[in-house]
Amino acid sequence: MWPENVGICAIEVVFPSQYVDQTELEQFDGASAGKYTIGLGQSKMGFCSDREDVASLCLTVVSRLIERNQIRPQDIGRLEVGTETIIDKSKSVKSVLMKLFADSGNTDIEGIDTTNACYGGTAALFNSVNWIESSSWDGRYALAVCADIAVYAKGAARPTGGAGAIAMLVGPNASLIFERGLRATHMEHVYDFYKPDLSSEYPTVDGKLSIQCYLSALDTCYQLYRKKFEKKYPDAAQVGLDNLDALIFHTPFCKLVQKSMARVVFNDFLLCKSTKRALKYPGLERFNDATLANTYFDRDVEKAFMIQFNDTFERKTRKSLLLANQVGNMYTPSVYSGLVSLLISNTPEELLGKRIGVFSYGSGLAASMYSILVTKDKQVFQQFVSKLDYVLPMLNTRKKIAPEVFSELMEVREKNNHAASYTPSGSVSALFPGTYYLKHVDDKYRRTYERTSVITNGVH
Ligand code: CAA
Repeated sequence: MWPENVGICAIEVVFPSQYVDQTELEQFDGASAGKYTIGLGQSKMGFCSDREDVASLCLTVVSRLIERNQIRPQDIGRLEVGTETIIDKSKSVKSVLMKLFADSGNTDIEGIDTTNACYGGTAALFNSVNWIESSSWDGRYALAVCADIAVYAKGAARPTGGAGAIAMLVGPNASLIFERGLRATHMEHVYDFYKPDLSSEYPTVDGKLSIQCYLSALDTCYQLYRKKFEKKYPDAAQVGLDNLDALIFHTPFCKLVQKSMARVVFNDFLLCKSTKRALKYPGLERFNDATLANTYFDRDVEKAFMIQFNDTFERKTRKSLLLANQVGNMYTPSVYSGLVSLLISNTPEELLGKRIGVFSYGSGLAASMYSILVTKDKQVFQQFVSKLDYVLPMLNTRKKIAPEVFSELMEVREKNNHAASYTPSGSVSALFPGTYYLKHVDDKYRRTYERTSVITNGVH
């Protein structure tokens, strides 16, 4: 028999303790006022000095999750990492995380790293759920971890950076349950965003193409999700956005998500029987003959659906953008930071028993849409959400750094990426309590980490 209600039993998020203000960055970059804040929809961008790397972010998020939820290290049977921040072409970040299990003597933990741009976290999560639902399961929890440092070279893409990590404890009888049979995936070969220069942290990006790929993957995944929904629930009164109480998206920048919600409504519009269209979508008859392929950058379609269905965006998606707006693109954790934002921006009662749609996108490209059902058990869910009480205080105690200093710190990262031997110069005291940081890289590229002291009465 399958274990029941498999999904997320606990979730933890980590973001940098420093940020740059996007209005100040606009001025510093010489961009027109409002381009980053209104045009891209971003307020603040979190960033890491050379004191943090992807392994330290993962060490921090996993140790915090284990401590906060009092999980015995022996009770983890699988640990998967999704990341596109590569510091070693052979040795996995997962292997570094085994440090956290050494004292317990638990080395019987399956799983390694998965990479495809921002999609690796979803792959890690799917693998974790699949393991628990398989004949290989031994009754223990799985941990899906995603972390990235999203940095771009100077220029148009730089304000769409960010950084962060998310860890999710996966098991049966979860608070956030994966809905079986409702996963829709689209993958194809395309060069929209990739990292061919292994000596640099920066990607090669075709910005416009990346947006087109994101939107077309959304179209395909959403239409397939609808079909699978129809098959699973043949008696459903309707098929479409009405079935999703909330819809969260991978968020490279918030404005794209607002456009994406309009795009989902546009898909519903095109799939709506012509006899019902006029009633459900009044005033939009002029788009009856529009097609998906010809409208990726059609401002008329975009604007009309965004304006007419703004309340749908407000109800189903707006609250999920809190961390994306305040921290920026986290790459693999981005869509799961949307989940955390949704959880902390609603009362538990508002979400109880609701269906949350999830759209995950990784350039290159790999994308999936699936849905999560929130448990109907009020006590279990309240307890689950209360563990996120630290997020807002932590967000509000971050330190603002001037764009000049941010730019200098980026140069330090750039110059010393893969340097050996190397001792980072970034401030340790600027880090949050309980943060793992890079102490040293020796002449054989071996990294050592330390942790700032953990306090229990503060933001940790
Ligand atoms: N006030 C208000 N709005 C302004 C403005 C101002 N003063 N100046 C410009 N704008 C608006 C523009 O009109 C535009 O909005 P619309 O698209 O709605 O018209 C918006 O601000 C951005 O301006 P541009 O299109 O001119 O911006 P750009 O071309 O210089 O750069 C970008 C934008 C292409 C997204 C670039 O930041 C980039 O390459 N980012 C990285 C790639 C990316 O994030 N792609 C997203 C999809 S891929 C993905 O999701 C994977 C991933 O995580 C990377």
